[in-house]
Amino acid sequence: MVKIIVKISIIICLIYFANAQQILRSQDVKGQNFLFSFGSCFSERRLTALNRTSIFEKISEQKPDVFAWLGDFGYPKLFEDFIPAFEFTKNEKGYKMLQSNNITQIIGVWDDHDYGRNDGDKNYKHKHETRQIYLDYIGEPKNSIRRTQPGGIYTSYYLGSTKKVKLVLLDVRFSRDSFWFEHSDILGPDQWKWLENEFNDPHSHTIILASGCQILPDDRVIPEKWYPDSRNRLFNLIQKHKDHQRVILISGDIHLAEILVEPNSVNKFGYNIIEITSSGLTHHIMDYKFPQFIVDGFLPNTFNDRQHRLMDFNYALVDIKIDPENKENTQLEISIKDQNNATRLQVKIEPWKQEQKQLNLTNSKYTRDDHRYKRWIIWMFKNYFIEYRKAGIALTSIAFVILILAYFICKILYDCYQNKIKNQQKQKTN
Ligand SMILES: *[C@@H]1O[C@H](CO)[C@@H](O)[C@H](O)[C@H]1NC(C)=O
Ligand SMILES: *[C@@H]1O[C@H](CO)[C@@H](O)[C@H](O)[C@H]1NC(C)=O
Ligand SMILES: *[C@@H]1O[C@H](CO)[C@@H](O)[C@H](O)[C@H]1NC(C)=O
Ligand SMILES: *[C@@H]1O[C@H](CO)[C@@H](O)[C@H](O)[C@H]1NC(C)=O
Repeated sequence: MVKIIVKISIIICLIYFANAQQILRSQDVKGQNFLFSFGSCFSERRLTALNRTSIFEKISEQKPDVFAWLGDFGYPKLFEDFIPAFEFTKNEKGYKMLQSNNITQIIGVWDDHDYGRNDGDKNYKHKHETRQIYLDYIGEPKNSIRRTQPGGIYTSYYLGSTKKVKLVLLDVRFSRDSFWFEHSDILGPDQWKWLENEFNDPHSHTIILASGCQILPDDRVIPEKWYPDSRNRLFNLIQKHKDHQRVILISGDIHLAEILVEPNSVNKFGYNIIEITSSGLTHHIMDYKFPQFIVDGFLPNTFNDRQHRLMDFNYALVDIKIDPENKENTQLEISIKDQNNATRLQVKIEPWKQEQKQLNLTNSKYTRDDHRYKRWIIWMFKNYFIEYRKAGIALTSIAFVILILAYFICKILYDCYQNKIKNQQKQKTN
């Protein structure tokens, strides 16, 4: 009797946790074709300063079934600027078209700026207020569990009525530990428990896993990425469920678009672990006027090379084909599009196709197993001394001069200090 009660309770728990929040319908009534779009980083200041027309007009023309924000709905600097920044985005001409085309449903999850603080973490003090404001602006119902559940605003949706393909939106802010503590965590215990249950879903077989900040690149000298422990934990989860859930990663944040692949993932997981990043909707990294070699220097070629990156403003369009009878026929064609409707990057993913060949998007022969700092040093060396030789020599010379100056300054200060001590000793002995 007790056993039966325990079993029933477990089943009820599983059903409760494992069910994605809701089914997003598509224009195709059978739900076998689904057009999904995503993007991130909408800056009022950039849009106005650069006198750009909004790319949302183009997104709206595509008539996607769903558009998902992967962060940075606006760029409020202070808590007081929050509502004005969000109002600007909401009322922007192109975004209004998307909101009123009567087809596209808009959903989303935040990243740092729309959470309220640049590179913000769980210690941001207005997070309970900004949570409600953010959810209001992406049209989340007032009674939604996302407004109150512990750990953040994470959620999931089935894309189409077949329930085979699922979109999981992770909250990488609300419970994020502060930067680089010993075993820093990104998701927090409640969200991890929930995510594990999302993988136990008996309906779905393909998960599009969304995170504001990038998941794959662990060798870039930028603070905004998954902490090593959390990244490993996620990869263990993906590996554990590889026979019944295949995962595609999507992200935003970095003001460029790219397609990345985890090297050697077919050996480890049985399929290619691919990440698609789309950012930003109004501006891109070259708008900051950094020289190309500086930008490239921050982006080692472990997961892709320059041909698989786009430094222009953009959005992503995912054309999903679902065959409810045969998961091997599942297809996702992912395109990164620009303001002229042109497809600038593209990858076709067949997560369940039997024969998986390792995708290789880089000209590097270094594998993931080479130490990441070794890879980085080799990359920097190649970048600065071979590809951009003059700039590399100039930079090194400047660094050298600074080092020599620093040496002499330290020496002078040290000598002064020594003299002072000597004088003091002299005075004492006198
Ligand atoms: C902004 O662009 C529009 C057309 O794209 C042009 O007519 C207008 O003069 C531009 N404004 C400024 C301030 O450059
Ligand atoms: C862009 O593509 C959409 C969908 O294919 C199409 O409806 C629209 O006319 C295109 N716009 C331009 C400017 O080419
Ligand atoms: C969307 O629906 C509303 C109300 O039914 C209608 O007034 C509006 O013109 C429609 N918009 C488009 C772009 O079809
Ligand atoms: C990927 O392909 C390039 C050639 O396109 C090759 O030079 C490189 O060694 C390959 N990398 C790996 C890890 O297989």
